[in-house]
Amino acid sequence: MPDIAVLNGRIMPLSRAAVSVEDRGYTFGDGVYEVVRVYRGAPFLLREHLERFTRSAKAIGLPLTPAPARWERWVTQAIKASRYGEAKIYCSFTRGAAPREHTFPAVPKPTRLITVRPLLPSSVDPHQGVRVVTLPDLRWGRCDIKSLNLLPNVLAKQEAKRRGAFEAILVRPGVGVTEGASSNLFAVLRDGTVQTPPAGPAILTGVTREAVIAVARREGVTVIEAPLDPDAATGAAELFLTGTLTEIAPVTRWDDRVVGDCRPGPVTRRLMHSFQAWSDAQLPRASPGRSAAKRRRR
Ligand code: PDD
Repeated sequence: MPDIAVLNGRIMPLSRAAVSVEDRGYTFGDGVYEVVRVYRGAPFLLREHLERFTRSAKAIGLPLTPAPARWERWVTQAIKASRYGEAKIYCSFTRGAAPREHTFPAVPKPTRLITVRPLLPSSVDPHQGVRVVTLPDLRWGRCDIKSLNLLPNVLAKQEAKRRGAFEAILVRPGVGVTEGASSNLFAVLRDGTVQTPPAGPAILTGVTREAVIAVARREGVTVIEAPLDPDAATGAAELFLTGTLTEIAPVTRWDDRVVGDCRPGPVTRRLMHSFQAWSDAQLPRASPGRSAAKRRRR
């Protein structure tokens, strides 16, 4: 089962895919990306990811071409060729190869890349939860664009790992807690209300975040999108992270403090359960022949 790439519309083994050393994605981080999860051989929330991809590309002055429908076909083709049941798809769209000048090339030739890799089992134990550490948010002012410039995220995540934590929670002076280095943060307040920092330039509006908010509201849970102060987060009854690869991960340790009773709380567990049921319903039914395709059960 090979790892697959679709590079500028051509499908090939990932090991054969190569781009120019002058690609602006490489020299400037001048591009945007998406990560999509594959369950049971089907891409999950692909339309929503492609909508955000389109918005991000437009925001950097590089309208997405070809249209999302073509990217959808490439993704489907790549999953099929890989035959992976559980996988992660990476899509990137850069301003392409050009002699290194900061200003845009007169006629950009964008590089379009899709890769499919098998998904390794998650390190998150849903019964234990994860530890997070807070770090300063050193990113720019348009975190809503899913751009390739991930250096502050990479450094924060590495520092979290060095300190034995799963995720870095980023804190911006005057704004509050923004999000994780690669996930969104939710707090369950003492009255059962769920709070998450608002959509806007300070965070990436996660596709999983949106889906979890919708699932929670359908369940009758009150969700507010409002700035979250680090003290309020520390005093929350429960905390959890959301993301394409993270799904819903309960946070049971925050810096050196314990969250709640250091076990995933009832609201988080309920949302994990309803999110899983909702996402299962979005996906094709498991076919008996697809052995590697069983979704992890919680
Ligand atoms: N990251 N915030 C940041 C900064 C992220 O990088 C991500 C996802 C999220 C969650 O978004 P979504 O629910 O759409 O995955 C929030 C991806 C998975 C990554 O860079 O690998």
